[in-house]
Amino acid sequence: MILRTSLGLLLNFLLALNTSQAQEQTQIAPTPPMGWNSWNCFRENVSEDKIKAIADAMVSSGMRDAGYEYIIVDDGWMTDQRDEEGHIIVNAEKFPSGMKALGDYIHSLGLKFGIYSAPGRYTCQKLMGSYGHEQIDANDYASWGVDYLKYDWCNYPGTREQAMNTPAEDCRQAYELMRDCLKNTGRPILYSVHSTCSGERKNSFPWVVDVVHMHRSGDDIKDNWDRMLYCLESTSELWPYAGPGFWNDPDMLEVGNTTQERLWGGIDSTKMTTLEYRTHFSMWCMVAAPLIAGNNLSTMKDEIVQILTNEELIAVNQDALGKQGKRIRDDGELEVWVKELSNNRYAVALFNRKDTAADITFQWDEVGISGQQQIRDLWRHEDLGTFSYSYTGKNIQPHDALILLVE
Ligand code: GAL
Repeated sequence: MILRTSLGLLLNFLLALNTSQAQEQTQIAPTPPMGWNSWNCFRENVSEDKIKAIADAMVSSGMRDAGYEYIIVDDGWMTDQRDEEGHIIVNAEKFPSGMKALGDYIHSLGLKFGIYSAPGRYTCQKLMGSYGHEQIDANDYASWGVDYLKYDWCNYPGTREQAMNTPAEDCRQAYELMRDCLKNTGRPILYSVHSTCSGERKNSFPWVVDVVHMHRSGDDIKDNWDRMLYCLESTSELWPYAGPGFWNDPDMLEVGNTTQERLWGGIDSTKMTTLEYRTHFSMWCMVAAPLIAGNNLSTMKDEIVQILTNEELIAVNQDALGKQGKRIRDDGELEVWVKELSNNRYAVALFNRKDTAADITFQWDEVGISGQQQIRDLWRHEDLGTFSYSYTGKNIQPHDALILLVE
């Protein structure tokens, strides 16, 4: 009897623990995180002046008011050394005022501060990683006012090769360890990871959903149409996992990135056109991807601001129901994607991946709706009227996606 009661108490305790963990996760990332990350445009050449200028531009461009909040400094802010007490040594040439001052500046603009590390001895740029110093690092982040950690997977414990061969269970422990260290600080910190346990991202499911707020679904994005499509594909089957508290991350946005990127894996170096940037943004909104811009916000053109701040598209991405859109039809290169929204509404993407213009029709029964439906075009910001049974998007341009709100 006593044994049964204590077992019952233990079960209740574990259940409560699990529930409170889920609640905490949901509170930190109830909708896909929005912000900017330094990697796509600055690579490892980050500095406090550049980051402050980006934070200023996030405000003056209207991006902050559109919902972007995190300013994330990726790899390159640290040296490859620790001091005698085990604290990571910040690169003082790049960040002469230190990370706390940078955090204060970012917060003074009403934004949040993000930082990068990796569970191995070294980051992907062979700078100091968190291995063996996880709690010291987490405490330092908290004391600098960090609100977001991107925790990559490179050189674990010591080299890239070892990282590829790390058993999935050890990899899981490494991610859970930093989760616990962040929690111990008492500061809410969004936890974004890129875990290729034993060389495979699929080895991180399903446990990763309860450990982190966002998880990379593929290799690095590039400012390249085919590469962007590869990243979209990497997340397309993962929709059952997404929801408030956990988001699949097909990688950062390349919209408006003017930096010439290093290319590997034989990828064509052609940059995307403005129309392709728009489609890239549309599809990231459809699949409830984190919207982490990667372009130089200080120098972007107005047409790029227009894409990044399309409020109607952002509302699709940020919808409170938190459903990741899925592909419901694939006629070769003509596709229909649907994202269920709150209040019985749907966002539908009619996506033309071909090199010629095309008409694309979707039927109500494919979406699971019936009767009269109002249709609105979220790029033209125009009501198209009321329709029954089906709607046809006419003459959709090559690589364009018509994004419709159906209610
Ligand atoms: C890669 C990661 C990139 C960037 C880079 C920094 O592994 O996918 O997004 O963070 O490391 O070295």
